[in-house]
Amino acid sequence: MTKPTIDIQQEVNPHFKPVWTTKTSYNVLRGGRNSFKSSVIAMLLVYLMLQYLSKGEKANLVVIRKVASTIRDSVYLKMQWALEKFDLQGEFQSTVAPFKLMHKPTGSTIYFYGQDDFQKLKSNDIGNIVAVWYEEAAEFNSAEEFDQTNTTFMRQKHPLADTVRFFWSYNPPRNPYSWINEWSDKLVGEDGWLVHDSSYKDDELGFVTEQMLQDIDRIKRNDFDYYRYLYLGEPVGLGTNVYNMSLFKPLDQLPDDDRVISLYYSMDTGHSVSATSCGCYGLTAKGKVIRLNGYYYSPAGRVNKKAPSELSKDINTFIKKMSALTPYKGARIQKRTIDSAEAALRNQYLKDFGQHWIPVNKLKKVDMVDYVHDLLAQGRLLSQKPVSNRIAVL
Ligand SMILES: Nc1ncnc2c1ncn2[C@@H]1O[C@H](COP(=O)(O)OP(=O)(O)OP(=O)(O)O)[C@@H](O)[C@H]1O
Ligand SMILES: [Mg+2]
Repeated sequence: MTKPTIDIQQEVNPHFKPVWTTKTSYNVLRGGRNSFKSSVIAMLLVYLMLQYLSKGEKANLVVIRKVASTIRDSVYLKMQWALEKFDLQGEFQSTVAPFKLMHKPTGSTIYFYGQDDFQKLKSNDIGNIVAVWYEEAAEFNSAEEFDQTNTTFMRQKHPLADTVRFFWSYNPPRNPYSWINEWSDKLVGEDGWLVHDSSYKDDELGFVTEQMLQDIDRIKRNDFDYYRYLYLGEPVGLGTNVYNMSLFKPLDQLPDDDRVISLYYSMDTGHSVSATSCGCYGLTAKGKVIRLNGYYYSPAGRVNKKAPSELSKDINTFIKKMSALTPYKGARIQKRTIDSAEAALRNQYLKDFGQHWIPVNKLKKVDMVDYVHDLLAQGRLLSQKPVSNRIAVL
């Protein structure tokens, strides 16, 4: 084979030296847009493969994206770009169905998969694997998705490799509590893991053009938080509104491929002016949380306000009716939570129905709000449209 003429120091910014030189098995590259993560990993994968090719050995690479349809315009092109950097493109044959780049002399192959085609991923038996790359890893649903595939690929290690090397690259989501931010934060300093941060500012080789810099500066002036999120890769949170209402997704009907497996009730109470409101929430098999219905009574402006004994009966009727509805019949009530300052209604309900409501475990406000942010940011919180399903108790 022809000897590659690449000058790594001209192609990889010094900031990535730790990534390039480490032998660590697990490498997480997180950073803002345009911070060279994908380019560095693509070149490093080719470089790793090259150590085998030059000995006439067969060595395979695996590149995974969440969604298979994104492969062609991203990682497939990027790996070809990296092969060109090493002047190797002429030795590789490209196919698109399935996506593969094969080194003609040795049969070494770069395989591309979508995690959404998990069967294909799981059943693959390619062997001689040197490295695996999860590109845009924040698109995955959880770290468990990696665990499943990592095991598959580890078993197929190249006999001459000490370990299969794994690489992840992603732009940190805004939400600091997003699973991938928490996942990678926990891995900082762990044995066997390298967690590497980068941004466009780490460019010493001049890959960021003047035009790009101007564009970045414009965003920096307009919306500093957005700039921090997009270009510095900082999980800046979701802004100053408590909740972004557009993230509460309305739901016309329960999806066919999911079902409510348990019910939760939560109640906030008032007896004189503020209302008593009891929400019914369904947790689905796929981990969504749906507000299914609500009981609401406002005493404001009324001469005869409902006593706790009446509210207790109302709430019980509401709960019984919800549980009798066909879609939720099999769903168990997992928890009933009530405003921790409310004792009267709690005592009344226990006396009437022998059932305890659990006072809410109040945490710091910011933490409680963030639980909801987290659910919302994952698109897991839905609200059933209060149409035919809504129960009139009164
Ligand atoms: N060695 C190189 N020679 C020329 N251009 C390069 C080189 N390395 C990186 N670049 C260019 O820098 C730009 C940013 O790199 P890259 O796409 O790898 O960043 P990224 O961190 O993956 O960005 P994003 O977060 O948007 O995916 C790209 O246009 C890429 O082609
Ligand atoms: Mg990238």
